[in-house]
Amino acid sequence: MTRPLLQMTGMSVELSAGPSRVDIISDVDLELNRGERLGIVGESGSGKSMTALAVMGLLPERMRVRGELLFDGRNLAGLSEAEYCGYRGRRAAMIFQEPMTALNPVKSIGAQIAEGRRLHLGESKTDAENKARALLDRVGLPAPRFDLDLYPHQLSGGQRQRVMIAMAIACEPDLLIADEPTTALDVTVQAQILDLIDDLIEDTGTALMLITHDLGVVSEMTDRIAVMYAGRIIETGRTDDVFARMAHPYARGLFAASPHGAALQPRREGEGRPRLNAIPGIVPDPFSRPTHCSFAERCSFAEADCRRAIPPLDLINTEGHAPHRAACFHPRERMVAP
Ligand SMILES: Nc1ncnc2c1ncn2[C@@H]1O[C@H](COP(=O)(O)OP(=O)(O)OP(=O)(O)O)[C@@H](O)[C@H]1O
Ligand SMILES: [Mg+2]
Repeated sequence: MTRPLLQMTGMSVELSAGPSRVDIISDVDLELNRGERLGIVGESGSGKSMTALAVMGLLPERMRVRGELLFDGRNLAGLSEAEYCGYRGRRAAMIFQEPMTALNPVKSIGAQIAEGRRLHLGESKTDAENKARALLDRVGLPAPRFDLDLYPHQLSGGQRQRVMIAMAIACEPDLLIADEPTTALDVTVQAQILDLIDDLIEDTGTALMLITHDLGVVSEMTDRIAVMYAGRIIETGRTDDVFARMAHPYARGLFAASPHGAALQPRREGEGRPRLNAIPGIVPDPFSRPTHCSFAERCSFAEADCRRAIPPLDLINTEGHAPHRAACFHPRERMVAP
């Protein structure tokens, strides 16, 4: 068997706050194969971005990775800063929610796109600039309107996001991480940007880690899904399998609370637009997470055992193409004996 491109085993991200330590992400097992597309969803604060930043080696100060985090078989925790520089942009690249935070406002877009080619591939200035022109064209910003010497502030939000995508794919990385890449954009531009990402990774066989709140996007764009809650993966499997048989009450609630999920709920004739079902309560803060199931307080199916221990991410269905797992003592769907 070929080894996964990315492999997290018992990975936690620990934050030191004064004398205390707290796990922002706890005990995550996650794999991503070459060319595969993984969707990560979950409520705000559940640890999606920190998972992505851990993979990029860009965690905020005072946070560190425990457990295993392998990229192409190599432990990322062991990389020196110089090795990280060779890895970021070349092997793994990231698109952020707000392009202005990632683009350099005082550098032309051409210089920013060409930079990776020069740095990682040792290309000459002319070659790298030619490539930058081709990339701008590829992301839908053709010359002469979108010249290399434009600056980020001369572009719209959607255009800036396209520049960031051009930068991210400039060196044809093995892994592209997109963290809410379209949240800041209007809906028509959102669809265009997602189509663009879809096309580009299809062309190059790049693996995708897509973080989004939009379950409709996950169902269309990804092969596998991981649902996070309070720093843990609480349900994961093939996207089709998970959507067909959601097991964890939180995942089901998330689905019912999304326009995509609500639209799929059965409706009687004459009945209006379906209501979105909000999940009551809030995600517990990392400093006050319980030592039992962290969803128990919000869960209408919780029983006494849910308040005694943290449920393991157990196999609940062996029928699909890949293991479907959920971390719940009383899953709504279970196809294998506990
Ligand atoms: N720089 C930081 N210092 C300390 N704690 C942080 C920092 N950044 C994030 N956190 C905490 O880490 C936890 C996980 O945050 P993360 O940004 O990964 O959430 P998320 O799932 O990406 O949420 P969102 O959907 O809002 O982007 C949160 O409890 C957050 O408060
Ligand atoms: Mg985030």
